[in-house]
Amino acid sequence: MANAPREQWSSRTGFVLAAVGSAVGLGNMWRFSYLTAEYGGAAFLVLYLGVTLMVGLPVMLAELTLGRGSQRSPVRALQHYGGAAWGPLGAVFVAAGFVILSYYSVIAGWTVRYALSALFSGFGGDTVARFNDVSVGWDAVGFHFAFMLATVWIVAGGVKGGIERTAIVLMPLLFLLVVGLAIYASRLPGAGPGYAYYLEADFDAILSWKVLTHAAGQAFFSLSLGMGAMLTYASYLGRDAHLPNESLIIAGADVGVAFLAGLVVFPLIFALGLSGAVIGTAGTEADIGNVGALFITLPGAFAEMGAAGRWVGTLFFAVLIVGALTSAISLLEVVVSAAMDGLGWGRTRAAWLSAAAMATLGIPAAFNIEVLDVMDKVASNLFLLGGALGLSLFVGWRMQDPVAEVTLGTDGVRWFFLWRMLLRFVVPAVLVFVLVQAVPDTLAAVAGLFGG
Ligand code: PFF
Repeated sequence: MANAPREQWSSRTGFVLAAVGSAVGLGNMWRFSYLTAEYGGAAFLVLYLGVTLMVGLPVMLAELTLGRGSQRSPVRALQHYGGAAWGPLGAVFVAAGFVILSYYSVIAGWTVRYALSALFSGFGGDTVARFNDVSVGWDAVGFHFAFMLATVWIVAGGVKGGIERTAIVLMPLLFLLVVGLAIYASRLPGAGPGYAYYLEADFDAILSWKVLTHAAGQAFFSLSLGMGAMLTYASYLGRDAHLPNESLIIAGADVGVAFLAGLVVFPLIFALGLSGAVIGTAGTEADIGNVGALFITLPGAFAEMGAAGRWVGTLFFAVLIVGALTSAISLLEVVVSAAMDGLGWGRTRAAWLSAAAMATLGIPAAFNIEVLDVMDKVASNLFLLGGALGLSLFVGWRMQDPVAEVTLGTDGVRWFFLWRMLLRFVVPAVLVFVLVQAVPDTLAAVAGLFGG
């Protein structure tokens, strides 16, 4: 049991920036624009916004409610409101944080490596060979460890002194950089065709159920939902926080940055006629995964831009590093807070021991990109979607009077009936549907890894 008084954010802005920092990460920068382009441009965007509003936001509010109400880490929060039987759902959250950070830190390591290249040597030569060099092997392990070290150092600094302070400094910087890059990109010759590719609505492309699966998976990953990250951050909030407003701001900022990232990525790619490489089709870039494509196509674009490419590339990868770091600290914090609450460990010990374990678990992903890909699929399809399903059922059906808790700090009960209905019916229905599609694919991917 925790014996020290629970840590608190020092200000509302601190909490909001930290939560936005958790949401905005590698997911926004690349996965979002890739999916949007592949699945119908503006039509996908509309679907994505719909899923975020109808499914993502209610779950976000549910997490904030559980965290703020219980003032506990995920396992304890669920036990607090639902009894011992719900503890295992919290354990799934912690496991998800564990798995996601293990490979997320490997990808983040690549961004550090690329930023250093941009700064000191520029990008040249064969970008595919370069990517293979960076992404696999002892170098990848080294940068993964270095990134994990930065993450644990911040988390060990505590909620106020580490996490909040980092978010307050880095998040405004990230916004400025993304806006600046979008403005710069708008003046490139590829802006017109890039925007057209990104934003032209192809409503036929969203008429497949698979697309809903992608939209939902992306929404949960991007909003950091389904594994207790928002729950954990909200557990350091006071009673007066206005949870619905905070949810809207966090989700709005997350969608906004994702949208802006697309406005940066596509003009850059189209300025150089590299559009063919953006969507990996079977047998080409797709073999190295969506994540890989970002690290192959864009350095190619930066290399062709000459001197300007050096600093644009540096800034671009700096944005990725900042996004990844503020997300990684939230992933680690889920595990750390659970260890502190559940095992009675102090913060320093919890942070260093769990980070060491995650760094170790990430090693196979740094040696084999397929392992990384499968870890990503398992974590986002099974853990996050399954976790979100459990959460919506818990708050929708099991928790006593969540409305009383969520309305604290607000001045009315107008929308909360709708919130509860969404959590009871709409969110579980969508998630069950999506899981039915996602589970077989994911299990097949796992089997493929072990089968050859
Ligand atoms: N939301 C982060 C991103 O978009 O990169 C990833 C993430 C962070 C997922 C924290 C889940 C989480 F709990």
